[in-house]
Amino acid sequence: MNNNYFDMIAKTMMGLEEVLADELVNIGAINVNILSRAVSFKGDNNIMYRANLWCRTALRVLKIIKVFDAKNESELYDEVSRIDWQQWMNTHDTIAVDCTLNSSNFSNSVFVSQRTKDAIVDQFRHKTGQRPSVNLDNPAIRLNIHVSGDSCTLSVDSSGKSLHKRGYRKFTPPAPINEVLAAGLIKLSGWDLHSNFIDPMCGSGTILTEAALMALNIPPGYYQKKFAFENLPDFNSQLWNNIKNEIPSSIGEFDGEIIGSDISKDAVDMAHENIKTAGLHKDIKIVNKSILEFEPPPGPGVVITNPPYGERIGINNISDLYRSMGNAFKKFYNGYNVWVISSDIDTIKLIGLHPSKKIKLFNGPLECRFIKFSIYEGSKKNM
Ligand SMILES: C[S@@+](CC[C@H](N)C(=O)[O-])C[C@H]1O[C@@H](n2cnc3c(N)ncnc32)[C@H](O)[C@@H]1O
Repeated sequence: MNNNYFDMIAKTMMGLEEVLADELVNIGAINVNILSRAVSFKGDNNIMYRANLWCRTALRVLKIIKVFDAKNESELYDEVSRIDWQQWMNTHDTIAVDCTLNSSNFSNSVFVSQRTKDAIVDQFRHKTGQRPSVNLDNPAIRLNIHVSGDSCTLSVDSSGKSLHKRGYRKFTPPAPINEVLAAGLIKLSGWDLHSNFIDPMCGSGTILTEAALMALNIPPGYYQKKFAFENLPDFNSQLWNNIKNEIPSSIGEFDGEIIGSDISKDAVDMAHENIKTAGLHKDIKIVNKSILEFEPPPGPGVVITNPPYGERIGINNISDLYRSMGNAFKKFYNGYNVWVISSDIDTIKLIGLHPSKKIKLFNGPLECRFIKFSIYEGSKKNM
């Protein structure tokens, strides 16, 4: 193994771990292991930069600094003090420490974050007379301490802000889908990246935008101005420039059609703006029609849609809407594989088609099902 390899953890959403593991293997990561809402792996700076730029289902990429045991605050403070922090930051850097706590050793996560930060700033003060200052919102160096029982994993966050904030979404409707979840749904659907792709309830166009990025082989990090790894002392700007310079030659072409529709004029306007920001206005078409009026081009193709859920959008008759969806799918979508994600698990049955696959996922705090209906001549007869 390359001497420059180190341990990393990429975080994701529940249900997308295997998809993320595949993405990491594809960029050359090794020792890839699936955890809960995360994937551990090994790689060097090249892999870490690529993971931030290319992994569509990663929320953050953490570079592990140290794993240690701590049963109380003074053990935590001592262990953090033993790290040479000048290898990781300078006194003029601003810092923040995030904590995820799953241990009865400590009373709360804020306290663990503060003790970790204290150990770092005290070391700088003793060595240099100066100390890094704290900036919780936009730090140069974001650290992460994960405490599970006695075991603490201290990492530096190579991403900075969550990678789902791609940078193309300027406008959002009441219940936008997370970009990482949208990308994960497309990967889970097995879309071949060549046939038509449709979202007939597209809202601000997130699923369509992620589909176009995939079909054209544009990295999800294309619109990011800066990643946190650019602030690390060992940042290799030449390596990063080389990785970015590979992008123009990798951008591909797409022969099929990517089309969205929504009943709301406001949503359609937002979708237009977001797609324009992404520079994809020639690749994605949006129309302002209800699902009962919008006719997709002939199949084959894939539909992925995130309809209103009763819990989230105050729609009086969610049942009528789901029946209408079923009617539209039977009438217009012959030859399509239609996927619907919803937390209204009972209401989905009103679509009136036989599901050929069901995947459990979470959309934020809501437990959802991502359900596949294969529409072909005779689908209706099979009901
Ligand atoms: C949960 S939102 C979709 C959000 C979208 N995935 C995004 O990321 O912005 C559901 C969308 O369904 C649309 N909608 C509701 N009833 C509809 C109907 N009968 N036909 C078409 N669109 C409808 C709403 O206007 C809303 O934009």
